[in-house]
Amino acid sequence: MKTCDQIRREFIEFFEGKDHTAVSSAPVVPMDDPTLMFTNAGMNQFKDIFLGTGSRSFCRAVDSQKCIRVSGKHNDLEEVGRDTYHHTFFEMLGNWSFGDYFKREAIARAWELLTEVWGLPKDRMYATAFEGSKKEGLEPDDEASELWKGVTDIDPSHVLWGGKEDNFWEMGAIGPCGPCSEIHIDLTPDGSGRDLVNAGDPRVIEVWNLVFMQYNRDESGKLTPLSAKHIDTGMGLERIVAVLQGKYSNYDTDLFAPLMDHIAELTGKKYRGKVGKGAEIDNGFRVVADHARMLAFAIADGAKPSNDGRGYVLRRILRRAARFGRQHLDLHEPFIYELVPSVAETM
Ligand code: ALA
Repeated sequence: MKTCDQIRREFIEFFEGKDHTAVSSAPVVPMDDPTLMFTNAGMNQFKDIFLGTGSRSFCRAVDSQKCIRVSGKHNDLEEVGRDTYHHTFFEMLGNWSFGDYFKREAIARAWELLTEVWGLPKDRMYATAFEGSKKEGLEPDDEASELWKGVTDIDPSHVLWGGKEDNFWEMGAIGPCGPCSEIHIDLTPDGSGRDLVNAGDPRVIEVWNLVFMQYNRDESGKLTPLSAKHIDTGMGLERIVAVLQGKYSNYDTDLFAPLMDHIAELTGKKYRGKVGKGAEIDNGFRVVADHARMLAFAIADGAKPSNDGRGYVLRRILRRAARFGRQHLDLHEPFIYELVPSVAETM
């Protein structure tokens, strides 16, 4: 079985092999973007390139970006713990083209990595394309839909349409954006998951989002075409590790195992991986594990719990972890700090 470190490395090496420059993750606390409380996507550190106000010495990049999604447009907090595949803190594997290759190559490369290099079953993959929006004056992305059928050997009936919610990606209320194609994998035992694409079911999950960056949205909501077209992709490391390790839950992978074991040790309770009704203890495990990672990285990158803004979000996460610990895991003494060495060990 591949380890999480191996999977992260293979992603980076795959794109390095295609002339991408490997860059470091930016901190989770954005350095100079007042529109963001936390880094919410791999593209944040490249926003200036998309907007045409900055440049780099390379036109292709690859990285694994530390992300936090607990505020603003991208906020997954309420899902965390209740399901097995959303996190407040996660790593986003991504590849970028800055005015270089576009849809054709992005789609072909994603397919090659998932199905040829990693050997994921082709008949279990679904791809979506943007169906357009009359309200926004945006046409359906026929080009992406056709490219999926032309440059990959995906089952053509597995290329689906999706609306603005899922297939038009925006960094925030303002900023760079564009139509996107998501890749989903059907993990149902009998391959009957077609209707579960984008239905919030853990048996059919989105693994990779390919964004075709084309517009900037301004304060008035208006979309203006960017001066060049770019590629911005994002794949949740925790999810792809679960898929490649044959697990149904991110918390069952080696990215979380030491942390889950540590919580079991602290509480004397056992994690059974249940969700839904009667899963309070399992929920507690997941929330505490997720929040310990988020808090450790946010604080290490310079944020501090406080009374307002970013610091208050941090304080709320800290309190939420403490509350789940107290209510579901019987932890009545301070405990979150004790988990930090396990976070450090895996990461
Ligand atoms: N920026 C895109 C996302 O976060 C890839 O999904």
